[in-house]
Amino acid sequence: MPRILIIHGPNLNLLGTRERAVYGDATMETVNSSCISHGKSIGYEVDTFQSNSEGDIIDAIHKAPSGFDGVVINPGAYTHTSVAIRDAIAAVDIPFVEVHLSNIHSREEFRRLSVTAPVCVGQICGFGPASYILGIEAIKSVLGKK
Ligand code: DQA
Repeated sequence: MPRILIIHGPNLNLLGTRERAVYGDATMETVNSSCISHGKSIGYEVDTFQSNSEGDIIDAIHKAPSGFDGVVINPGAYTHTSVAIRDAIAAVDIPFVEVHLSNIHSREEFRRLSVTAPVCVGQICGFGPASYILGIEAIKSVLGKK
């Protein structure tokens, strides 16, 4: 069975209580269970990982190809700043899809730039928790073409 890793970056462990007007009421655990059940329904095994540390996220990216066929990543605020995460994604040879709960292009100017999206297959944003499900579908579509 193909395997997909979901990586959540900093502060996403606080979903459900954090800035609910922007990010909604769903907790990270709820988002994770719906990704796992969606994966099951389409024949994919989904595993999840969250860290607030840039280095731990980079380590997870480095290890991903040994256990996974593709990665759905929400780098959180590192999206806008982390050349190190961008370089890690560029260094590994499996597809990454970047997702965001909010539409980063309709928010503050500094959120409009993603340094990580150019090394991903693409970016999905603005659909709340459904962004992650669409991200899984995007990985499935990319893997189907291989
Ligand atoms: C976010 C958008 C980022 O700008 C922000 O720093 C986050 C969450 C999103 O999912 O909408 O932490 O990645």
